[in-house]
Amino acid sequence: MKPYNVDHVALAVEDLDAVLGDFSRLFGVEAVSREVVEEQGVEEAMLPIGGTSLQLLRPLSPDSPVGRFIEKRGQGLHHIAIAVASIDDALAHLRAEGARLIDTEPRIGGGGHKIAFVHPATVAGTLIELVEIDGH
Ligand code: CO
Repeated sequence: MKPYNVDHVALAVEDLDAVLGDFSRLFGVEAVSREVVEEQGVEEAMLPIGGTSLQLLRPLSPDSPVGRFIEKRGQGLHHIAIAVASIDDALAHLRAEGARLIDTEPRIGGGGHKIAFVHPATVAGTLIELVEIDGH
């Protein structure tokens, strides 16, 4: 597996407008996209910084995965997304290494990219997302 970069770092937030306002006012960072991803039960915003982005995730309901995350652990770091050329190759490699996968098959995430999540039990209690990005 040859990761390109950290595609994004995702934070779980309760009030998306408030947090977008904070990043704009305090750090001069603005969202370039904002969309509801029903399948994941979130509204998400992307805020590019240099070669990567912050992703803000607001749960659409308390019983969605991000809603349950905030209830258990509070707002804050939710996952780190690593860009790869082939998500199928990356998943095959992870399976061979015995990694615990949340998604054994890729699914479509925000921006229409193929994504897959690796269980936090695999590395350092941290949820890792793989994102397939072409054109590198
Ligand atoms: Co993400």
